Amino acid sequence: MNIIKLVLPIIGCFILYQSCNNSSQTQDIPVAEADVFAEAKEIYAAVCSGCHGMEIGAFADRKSWKFGDSKDSIAYVIKTGIVEDGMPSFDSTYSADQISLLADYIIDAKDNVAKYRDAAPIESDTFMSEELTYRIDTVVSGLNSPWGMAFLPNGDLLVTDKSGELYRVDAAGKKTEIKGVPEVRYKGQGGLLDVELHPDFETNQWVYLSYAITKEDDESLGSTAISRGQLKGNALVNVERIFEAVPYFETGHHYGSRISFGNDGKMYFSVGDRGKRDENPQSLERDQGKIHRLNDDGSIPSDNPFANQDNAKASIYSYGHRNPQGMAVHPETGAIWTTEHGPRGGDEINISLPGKNFGWPVISYGINYNGTIFTNINTKEGMEQPLHYWVPSIAPCGMDFVVGDRYPGWENNLLVGSLKYKYLDRVVLDGDKIVHEEPLIKGLGRVRSVKMSPDNYIYVGLENPGFVVKLIPITK
Ligand code: HEC
Repeated sequence: MNIIKLVLPIIGCFILYQSCNNSSQTQDIPVAEADVFAEAKEIYAAVCSGCHGMEIGAFADRKSWKFGDSKDSIAYVIKTGIVEDGMPSFDSTYSADQISLLADYIIDAKDNVAKYRDAAPIESDTFMSEELTYRIDTVVSGLNSPWGMAFLPNGDLLVTDKSGELYRVDAAGKKTEIKGVPEVRYKGQGGLLDVELHPDFETNQWVYLSYAITKEDDESLGSTAISRGQLKGNALVNVERIFEAVPYFETGHHYGSRISFGNDGKMYFSVGDRGKRDENPQSLERDQGKIHRLNDDGSIPSDNPFANQDNAKASIYSYGHRNPQGMAVHPETGAIWTTEHGPRGGDEINISLPGKNFGWPVISYGINYNGTIFTNINTKEGMEQPLHYWVPSIAPCGMDFVVGDRYPGWENNLLVGSLKYKYLDRVVLDGDKIVHEEPLIKGLGRVRSVKMSPDNYIYVGLENPGFVVKLIPITK
């Protein structure tokens, strides 16, 4: 491999040298066109891709443009940002010329989508990993964004679609909509988000949903909520809202929200900072930017770290978080592992611990997405260090641990979805230490969710378009 890499350019130079020296042919030689978009491409890959994905073709191919797809409106958005949705202003970062070039580049991508699509479309359903060969099977398709997944005891898959529907998918791949799901605020990063079963589901049939809600008396405001309902046939009954994050905000991003039941039978879930980093994550009087812990009925466990503290929300378990969209219980230690979207270069893996402060936005390894600096420190006494942070950011979403021995060589690995790079990150651990990473199913789609089935298969939810696949190891 290395030898080929070295030799090929040398042969290339040789051929070029031969033909370049023949002056009579110069006109026929395709001279490499100077790439007018070179600088825009660099900026897009380094900065914009953090939120819009590496593939500009997919970004430019959007069906609906909020501000219109003319050059002027695109340049306007880049300059001013859409702060309430989480798009920063780049006015102080880039010159008018650079912004104009970026707008031209997006328009070129929009007009030539095929040219800007991933260079190598996936042609085979068989993938090679460092440890084993596997293929993918499509479990269900026709979704918008399969945000959360949970398995029923009989092996049927419950999957949320961000647009507001909950489906049951049986072994034959038949998709049935579950009735009785609460109305959700499907806007920006909001919608129907995670789904989780009560640990004693078989006796009580409780299903938990996290989702974005609209304030009853003010449509402009939204928040994160958790409801539970009992699954009877294909309907949720006795639905009750057991948590509502307050206060509400006009912003359309950073809702969280993953749910996991710990080995202690308590429900852990995340609420993002709603883009209000200076008000929310460090305040114990606000629900945002936190991991919460509740009893299964929504009441407060008496041993919660702030249960008896004045001026603190009693449901808070840990704080100083930005936007955690991955959560899983470690199969051996029972610890609550989370991933969170950080600023540029600051996406993290953490282990949530009672009463601990994870530091956002006081300490961070990242910078603002528009290149400006918001903190100079990445450590501080009383604030936890991440187990791991990604530079560049991968936009982590969804998380689970490989259990069982179905995937030889992957036992006990951590799996983390990457929205940005469209892969499933296989994270090899030594205890709590991250020692190696390998991208799986690269290029298949933006990875939104990952879950082990009861029979220990890996299921992955992908979006744009939305579908769920299952990874099947090929034994030799
Ligand atoms: C921190 C996240 C983030 C970064 C970084 C970011 N954007 Fe955005 N951008 C958003 C969000 C959120 C929206 C609004 C939702 C949407 O349209 O996707 C948006 C919208 C846009 C739109 C408007 C689309 C429309 O519908 O009208 C354009 C154009 C755009 N971004 C370009 C860029 C460019 C160019 C860069 C890099 C210089 C960039 N963005 C960096 C988050 C980001």
